[in-house]
Amino acid sequence: MGQIVPDAIERYLSGLNQLPDSVLLDVARAGDAQDLPLVDAEVGALLRVLATAVGATRVLEIGTAIGYSGIWLAGALPANGMLLTMEMDQKRAAQARENFVRAHLADRVNVIVGDAQRLLAKVSGPFDLIFQDGDKRHYIPMLDRLVDLLRPGGLLVTDNVLWDGEVVPGFVKRARRDAEETRAIAEYNVQLNRHPGLMTAIVPLRDGIAISVKRTTGRSG
Ligand SMILES: C[S@@+](CC[C@H](N)C(=O)[O-])C[C@H]1O[C@@H](n2cnc3c(N)ncnc32)[C@H](O)[C@@H]1O
Repeated sequence: MGQIVPDAIERYLSGLNQLPDSVLLDVARAGDAQDLPLVDAEVGALLRVLATAVGATRVLEIGTAIGYSGIWLAGALPANGMLLTMEMDQKRAAQARENFVRAHLADRVNVIVGDAQRLLAKVSGPFDLIFQDGDKRHYIPMLDRLVDLLRPGGLLVTDNVLWDGEVVPGFVKRARRDAEETRAIAEYNVQLNRHPGLMTAIVPLRDGIAISVKRTTGRSG
């Protein structure tokens, strides 16, 4: 359970979110066994709702891990849609590919192995939705490039922006997260909210999700 939403509320939300998909359950279990910080099913459902709401056909993800969030995202795509997902760890990328096959989504997913910071220069947009869930210290360096890659009206969704509440001074008695990452996320949240090309709202679900829409015109509020 996370630190932000009380356990009882998280259990309630998770009880409502019926997960008929056995592949997703298996991948979540594999992630737990490997101690991987995957999104949970409630965030997965949010990603699928957002991708569906913007009629996404092209989605970019930074930080595939073993494909859990990718399955939620790719499940929202039409048959001719494409999820491009980047992972620097070869073993995880290989597991993700297997999991996309098991989820019958391999035809619309391209797992690219490498450092997203470098790969982003070679990718062409526009994307309808970008999910940023890679290294927290890279959030700021990647921000402008990700905004460039979005279509106007497209969504940049960023995970972990509340970082167990540690971005809020005094929220926890003893910090458990890496201080450099905490500072990077806190500064990212400021830049995201001030970014002239974006309009942002933060949802305090799980570890905090920022949802930013790329503005179609000049800033108006
Ligand atoms: C939080 S996990 C992703 C979890 C996944 N999105 C999910 O919820 O199922 C972050 C992943 O990003 C990868 N990563 C970190 N920095 C990266 C980078 N610069 N380029 C590509 N992948 C990166 C890590 O290896 C790790 O597997």
